[in-house]
Amino acid sequence: MLKRKLKVLGQVKVLPFYLFTFLPLANAQTLPVYLDETKPVEQRIDDAIGRMTLDEKIAVIHAQSKFSSPGVKRLGFPDLWTDDGPHGVRPDVLWDEWEQAGQTNDSCVAFPALTCLAATWNPEMARLYGISLGEEALYRNKSVILGPGVNINRTPLAGRNFEYMGEDPYLASRMVVPYVQGLQSRGVAACVKHYALNNDEEYRHQVNVKVSDRALHEIYLPAFRAAVQEGGAWSIMGAYNLYQNQHNCHNAILLNKILKQDWGFDGVVISDWGGCHSTEEAVVNGLDLEFGTWTDGLTMGATNAYDNYYMAEAYKRLIKEGKFTTKELDDKVRRVLRLFFRTTMNRHKPYGFLCSDAHYDAARKIAQEGIVLLKNEKIRKYKNDKEVAPLLPLDMKNAKRILVVGENAIKMMTVGGGSSSLKVQREVLPLDAMVAQCSMFNVQCDYARGYVGDTIQSYNGVTVGRSLYDMRTQAELTAEAVEKARQADVVIFFGGLNKSEYQDSEGHDRKQYGLPYGQDELIEALVKVNPRLVYVNVSGNAVAMPWTDKVPAIVQAWFLGSETGTAIASVLFGDVNPSGKLPFTWYASLDQCGAHALNTYPGTWRADHKIIDEEYKEDIFVGYRWTDRLKGKKGKDANTPLFSFGHGLSYTTFKLGKLTADKKQLTTDGQITFTIDVTNTGNRAGAETIQLYISDLKSSVERPVKELKAFSKVMLQSGETRQVTFTIDQSAFSFYDEQQGVWRAEPGEFEAIAGTSAARLASRLSFTLNP
Ligand code: BGC
Repeated sequence: MLKRKLKVLGQVKVLPFYLFTFLPLANAQTLPVYLDETKPVEQRIDDAIGRMTLDEKIAVIHAQSKFSSPGVKRLGFPDLWTDDGPHGVRPDVLWDEWEQAGQTNDSCVAFPALTCLAATWNPEMARLYGISLGEEALYRNKSVILGPGVNINRTPLAGRNFEYMGEDPYLASRMVVPYVQGLQSRGVAACVKHYALNNDEEYRHQVNVKVSDRALHEIYLPAFRAAVQEGGAWSIMGAYNLYQNQHNCHNAILLNKILKQDWGFDGVVISDWGGCHSTEEAVVNGLDLEFGTWTDGLTMGATNAYDNYYMAEAYKRLIKEGKFTTKELDDKVRRVLRLFFRTTMNRHKPYGFLCSDAHYDAARKIAQEGIVLLKNEKIRKYKNDKEVAPLLPLDMKNAKRILVVGENAIKMMTVGGGSSSLKVQREVLPLDAMVAQCSMFNVQCDYARGYVGDTIQSYNGVTVGRSLYDMRTQAELTAEAVEKARQADVVIFFGGLNKSEYQDSEGHDRKQYGLPYGQDELIEALVKVNPRLVYVNVSGNAVAMPWTDKVPAIVQAWFLGSETGTAIASVLFGDVNPSGKLPFTWYASLDQCGAHALNTYPGTWRADHKIIDEEYKEDIFVGYRWTDRLKGKKGKDANTPLFSFGHGLSYTTFKLGKLTADKKQLTTDGQITFTIDVTNTGNRAGAETIQLYISDLKSSVERPVKELKAFSKVMLQSGETRQVTFTIDQSAFSFYDEQQGVWRAEPGEFEAIAGTSAARLASRLSFTLNP
């Protein structure tokens, strides 16, 4: 451990050996340009490229181990180490195997999964997230973190939605930028993934996405663009799937045209592990750094096959045969060297810290802010109460016994799920945190397993702390839980999904929208004997909840990482007032979701069964854009989601004032500022997120009923009023004009709508956009 720490320090802070070699021999003038920090980076890159042999150039554009690529030893460029991402720094695997390396210094702090981060609706939490993760990565000598993920939640079945930031391009954009900036402020590159259109996992290597230019630009690309142009991301990961019949790791349109030409990306395109399939396409279509070839990204992998990579010997041969000049190669090497100068060669990086108190604080804070209170109805808090009150926060004054039910109260969720799986220093399980809280009130905290889901004891070589083995039948488990529920003042059910295959996990999607393991039946049985039931849903996706009307309190608790139990208990017991808001629409049933209503998922296999075409027929109408559009067409309730996008309750109440604007008209190059008062009308402090939606009232193309274009989360003391302002410009009015291939703000009438969710709209105001 000490040895490793010294190695890290050696690379980060101490002058590299080559400087010592040069300095005594010559004065600063003879320092090669590429090592001269007073020279512009581009000049240093030119100089370095000029010194590199063909072999050295070929070497830096592909991997040498599962997660590293070589630097240029002769010139003093160290190896480049990447690592997953996005929720914590993954434990080391062996050099050329997926098995754990068995290090003793690679236990990390797990941060909440990115759906939770998005649910905070607080860009400052994203910055804190990036900074904290960057410090953990620095300690571990990782220069590239494989994350964050910003693919749009198009279907709640998608296995990796938990790694992404929801359904709305604006929300995801606002949250990804500070994450990238925070991470990179520590000298660690973000690798934004998976570019692009990786919206489900099933057949991910074979899916060819067919999507309109409009949906591509309006829905699926904005968060990537923001990460690149505003966040300044230093690398991006190509997705496994195909677009326009070309794999995305070497896709001419996505990489050369959109990313590099239109957006001016100067960083490195890294292939997803096993996402590269052709030397020629990789050479000409913009891939810069090849990783993981001959693996499926999860398990398989040929041994020491690095010379056989598409951008290794095969590429060199084609250059030697004259098929390619070194034009493309030099561009790739230039980008890779730029990444070196930004990361491994940056001698001004701060120090890294592993598992610091500050990182745990950050993980807890983000978790607490992301938890969403979905429902909190009034009920008699105790059996014999006369009065009714919201069930949460839990009342401990007269409580004797509370009952915790469910496997997710005792299951570690930082392991599993694919490449984002972690080895944590600690993970506070919900039951442990509940027991600790109860003991402070002298209340007994009982537990009943209720159902047995996945009892897996280890994942990727990381052993799960607690045995989940239970041989009882479902009838026995139900009987025990029901009996204990009868005796309890209140029942807290920890259910939902987990990170096992075919749930919230990489490689596959869920097979159904409903809860697994018979949880629905169990919940129904429990609520029958004790109506004071709080359902805590642990997942990265929405699930069907057919019993919603019978359960008074529902909490969405995501995958919260190291501080899971602490964060959930703090909300349930009221130490923290919940303020999370849904980053996606929570459909009552799958047919409320465009992709499923139009039967476009998972797609249609071609005759040769090699490619499956998935046509995004719902076009730009994803999430609330879809449910809004159908409202009223199929009868009042058929398309009303269970919980709308942006929804989330608090233990206090808020009132919005009237929306006003600084003008009634503006020109397409102008700005308009909206103002609205928000008051905390309840009796405790809390935070509310004011959401500003824009509606184009008349347009030459069909537009969504409304689209999120600004938001602001404000903390208010009881009785306090604050004024919130939003300034927007033409980017908030524009649509992507497919004919001309540009964004266009079309003059006409618009409406601004302020609310606290996509369904709770408090105040509207129309204005005119002039040419
Ligand atoms: C995943 C990537 C991940 C990579 C390396 C792939 O299976 O799709 O997100 O970064 O493996 O672990």
